[in-house]
Amino acid sequence: MNPVYDLEPPEWRDYSDAELKVRIDPCRLPRHIAVIMDGNGRWAQARGLPRVSGHRAGIQSVRETVEGAAELGVPVLTLFAFSTENWRRPRDQVDALMDLLVEYVDREIGTLLKNDIRFIPIGRLFQLPPHVQAKLAWAQDQTARGRGLLFLIALSYSGRVDVVDAVRSIARQVQAGCLSPDCIDEQVIAAHLYTREVPDPDLLIRTSGELRISNFMLWQLAYTELWFTPIYWPDFRKRHLYMAILDFQRRERRYGTVPSTPEPVSSGTFS
Ligand code: IPE
Ligand code: IPE
Ligand code: MG
Repeated sequence: MNPVYDLEPPEWRDYSDAELKVRIDPCRLPRHIAVIMDGNGRWAQARGLPRVSGHRAGIQSVRETVEGAAELGVPVLTLFAFSTENWRRPRDQVDALMDLLVEYVDREIGTLLKNDIRFIPIGRLFQLPPHVQAKLAWAQDQTARGRGLLFLIALSYSGRVDVVDAVRSIARQVQAGCLSPDCIDEQVIAAHLYTREVPDPDLLIRTSGELRISNFMLWQLAYTELWFTPIYWPDFRKRHLYMAILDFQRRERRYGTVPSTPEPVSSGTFS
């Protein structure tokens, strides 16, 4: 197959949500799906609305994605909600996003509990306003006994900051004499990242048509399959999640090795 192929084949567009869902192989689900939820501002601007309306509309997409992943039995979902670079946005927009976050937690906590979901915020959470930190800690505590979907939300997070914080933590262990520099390997680094509790993402979804990672999980995405869609985050629905997973399931992951299909048997003659 040509490596540049259609991520949403035309026949999938005619299928209903249910028809897409039954085509997913439950034995080959991604263990971890990560999502860069982008395009809220442009969604709003296209409608002549303030940017915050786009962020508010995106809550429905969060709901569908969390519910869709939980229903399928995906073990881990990480949503990228606010990057360290996003602090550079206008103050009123940052404040509106923080308010929306608190509102989201208040409105969704019941659904998270009902669906046995464990909610874990990751990132430099200490940089968030105290009332937001308190609300997140409360939701994490409330859902701590959830045994279903592990739902991570990345806030004040960036991939490089993740590595910086891991390096600081490792350096402190070395300084304290608890760790020899020669023992630092990939496992040790992974064990100090914000994602230390979960496997690396198998699938990354980015909405809004941008073909970039924007400083998200730089270490963890080393062998992740990437799926991009032009639609804006507020238009993202379960069917898009299904399409991303179906596309993931038709890919062959090689991790630097050769294809798993056997070589054709040679006749053994040179004549
Ligand atoms: C993504 O939506 C969410 C955050 C970064 C908080 P944007 O606000 O970046 O929307 P666009 O990309 O400008 O349309
Ligand atoms: C990435 O979106 C961050 C989040 C979705 C939280 P951005 O809108 O910040 O990324 P750029 O600026 O387009 O790269
Ligand atoms: Mg954006």
